[in-house]
Parts: sequence; C-alpha cells; structure tokens
Amino acid sequence: MNVNRDVAAGQAVYTPFTLAAYDWFVLGFSNRLLWRCPTSNLRDLYARNVGATHVDIGVGTGYFLDKTPWPVPDPRITLVDLNPHSLEAAAKRIARYKPETVTANCLEPLPVEGPFDSVGLCYLLHCLPGGIAEKAIVFDRVAPVLAENGVIFGATILQGDTPRSLPARALMKLYNRKGVFSNAADTFQDLRQALENRFADVALRRFGAVVLFEARRPL
Ligand SMILES: C[S@@+](CC[C@H](N)C(=O)[O-])C[C@H]1O[C@@H](n2cnc3c(N)ncnc32)[C@H](O)[C@@H]1O
Repeated sequence: MNVNRDVAAGQAVYTPFTLAAYDWFVLGFSNRLLWRCPTSNLRDLYARNVGATHVDIGVGTGYFLDKTPWPVPDPRITLVDLNPHSLEAAAKRIARYKPETVTANCLEPLPVEGPFDSVGLCYLLHCLPGGIAEKAIVFDRVAPVLAENGVIFGATILQGDTPRSLPARALMKLYNRKGVFSNAADTFQDLRQALENRFADVALRRFGAVVLFEARRPL
C-alpha cells in the first residue's frame, strides 16, 4: 500500500512491544493523569453507541471492543487499521466474535462492506496528519457505509487552545515531534464545525484535553 510519510508516522509506533504497554500507559496512566479523561468515559461512549454491525477504525489493542457490552451476543465486527500489529492484537483479543480484519488507510476509500450500525473512531484523529479539515476526510469515508439510523462516534485528544498541565504539554510536544500525534492545531471548534458540515445530529463533550463525539444522519 502506498501511504505518504506523515500518514505512515501516525501508525508506525504500534509494535507488539508498544501495544503490550498501551492499555497500561495510555488507557491507565495518560488518560487519567495527563489528558484528564478517565478511560471509563470512553467505555461509556462505546457502551452507549455500539450496534449489532460495527466497524472500528484505528483499533489499537482492541480494549474497548473487548470490554463493551454488545447489544447482541453475536455482533458482526470489522476491524480496520493501517498497522498489521494493531489488527492482529485486536483480532486476537476479540477472537470470540470472529471479527473481519481489513488493512487500510482510513483517509482513502474504505474497502469494507456496510451498512454498519456503528462506526468507532476512538483516538484515531490525533494520529492523522494535517489539521481537522484534512483529518475530517475520514468522516467522508465512513458516511457511505453507515446504516440509516447508524452512529459515528469516537474521541480525540486536542491541542490547539486546550489548557494542559506542564507534563501533558511536554509529552504532547514530543509525540508531535515524532509524528505519533499530529494535533498541534486541533481545536474543539474546528471538530464541531467539521462534524456539523456533514451530519444533522452532532453531540460533543469535552473532558480535559479529550473531546468525545457522536454524529448521526449524514447530510
Ligand atoms: C491511539 S491508537 C487507538 C487505539 C484504540 N482505538 C483506542 O482508543 O484505544 C490509534 C490506532 O490508529 C491506527 N492508525 C493510525 N493512522 C491510521 C490510518 N491512517 N488509517 C488506519 N489506521 C490508522 C494505528 O495503527 C493505531 O492502531
């Protein structure tokens, strides 16, 4: 697959080694103490939104897919990621649901078969290069595979004008320098605008440096 250097940098950090530490370091330590959004808020987001057919994009370790209460015993789950290690880790973790795995760059047309009741985009946008206007292409990619009453939901870590502690600013700066994050210009207002330009029903909530979003009814 041909992806540009900035897109590649946003997924390159996820190796078997970093994925082994991800739940502890990101979902345990960083969410609570640096980004100030306890992971329970993200678990609630999943529990509120997952449907019987779900596509998750940017899957990491598959933590939320493993922990969330699904509305049916046998959900049809499709995992999409550019990184094969993430796909393998998440697929293994939720093997009991027999997920389908798809290697793809979410900024390109998605080779997945909808319609999906729910689309999860958790902690994906801050890994994508550019400003919110460029990242929002992912909303255009998922809208065509959304079921009529489906929901797109997720969360992203903002920088822009978001107040953050000194350690949070330092780690975010390092991540941006290495291309792990590309969120230097990401603001709440730009994200809201990008979603409202595309969906009739949009809800955003902010916890610390993290914004949670839910969007329905593509325009
Ligand atoms: C921070 S992890 C999020 C994992 C999980 N969703 C969570 O919230 O714990 C970001 C994931 O997005 C994937 N990713 C980054 N850029 C991508 C792209 N352009 N297309 C598809 N996946 C991408 C990475 O490989 C990684 O698995």
